[in-house]
Amino acid sequence: MQEIYADYNGSAPICNEVKEYIINRLNKGPFANPNATHHVGTRVKVAMENARSVCAKLLGAQMSQLVFNSGSTEGISTVFQSVLLNNPKKKIIISGIEHSAVTNNALFYQENHGHEVYTLQTKPNGIVDVEDLINHIDEDTALVAVMAANNETGVIQPYLDVAKICQEKGVPFLCDTTQFVGKTEFNFAESGIDYAVVAGHKIGGMTGSGLVLAKDPATLKPLIIGGGQEKGLRGGTQNYLGNETLAVALTYAMNNLPKYEAINTKRQQFEENIKAKFPQIVIIGEDAPRLSSTSYLSMPGIHGQAVQMELESEGIYVTTSSACSDNNPQTSKVLKAMGVTDDIGRGVVRISLGLCNDPALYDRIESALINAYEKLSKIKSY
Ligand SMILES: Cc1ncc(COP(=O)(O)O)c(C=O)c1O
Repeated sequence: MQEIYADYNGSAPICNEVKEYIINRLNKGPFANPNATHHVGTRVKVAMENARSVCAKLLGAQMSQLVFNSGSTEGISTVFQSVLLNNPKKKIIISGIEHSAVTNNALFYQENHGHEVYTLQTKPNGIVDVEDLINHIDEDTALVAVMAANNETGVIQPYLDVAKICQEKGVPFLCDTTQFVGKTEFNFAESGIDYAVVAGHKIGGMTGSGLVLAKDPATLKPLIIGGGQEKGLRGGTQNYLGNETLAVALTYAMNNLPKYEAINTKRQQFEENIKAKFPQIVIIGEDAPRLSSTSYLSMPGIHGQAVQMELESEGIYVTTSSACSDNNPQTSKVLKAMGVTDDIGRGVVRISLGLCNDPALYDRIESALINAYEKLSKIKSY
């Protein structure tokens, strides 16, 4: 039985190009501290700076605007610290569908530094309400954080509109682009975003690699204080192999974006077929623009975990994003922000694929899902 890994939004498998690069790189070297002044160190540094140049070009940024780090949580935490520490402006505006890296940073600054968090309304289709931002952004706003695409629903957000509003008001805008970059076109310079983040493990690179982009790098304050690496903006010897492979993964992803068209077509067909079979199925964010490779669906009355287990018995690995404790599954905060009721919220399963997948895999997922729903409908789990 061929296993199907369908949790790319959680972490994408390392892509073949990166695997080949790593094997070759490990065999050939060089290995050294990229900050050393001897010849080996310089060669390592040149490779890492080449990776910086490749990533910056692919993302529409300047090399000087890119700081390598360990991934998006670090990037987001760096931006919060940079913008908020000792900032007399007190309001932080975030959306209600942000990743916990954003929500928990916002809470931290509220609890420890006297900031006040305003959470934007989300429309039932999963899109953040830009009107609410217009109504609440003011001269006391220190930071706005709205993501580009949601990790659970795949719904693409009006981040360009948010950037424009923030620019007009002179408020720094952090856009969590973790799920967006590598899955669709992105240009940092043209976007008007002040800060963006990338995680290697979401795009076929290595876990523990990532970067933060800053329109004005002089505004960044290091989260990790060390020996002046990354122009003093991120202490600690760089993960140079990770940074090089990040460039390889990003190159592969950005050069293969057209492949998402076939995935998109097949995903839509898959969703149509499931709905035709079970008209009561809810496709979360159905009428919103979504990432090509994300489906988030729910059958009212059937627990997502039960569906996940049925699919797993067929070698298909999906997620439910509802936290479950003591057999009491909770509707996720993203779904709550969308006004999704518990009978639907408890039932969600997320199927997220990626560039390395053959779109034909949707056929097997479809038949396994149909079997699972037919079986579980007979023994309704709640
Ligand atoms: C939207 C979003 N933001 C931030 C993160 C955190 O990224 P990392 O695992 O690189 O810290 C994730 C990962 O789950 C994510 O999906």
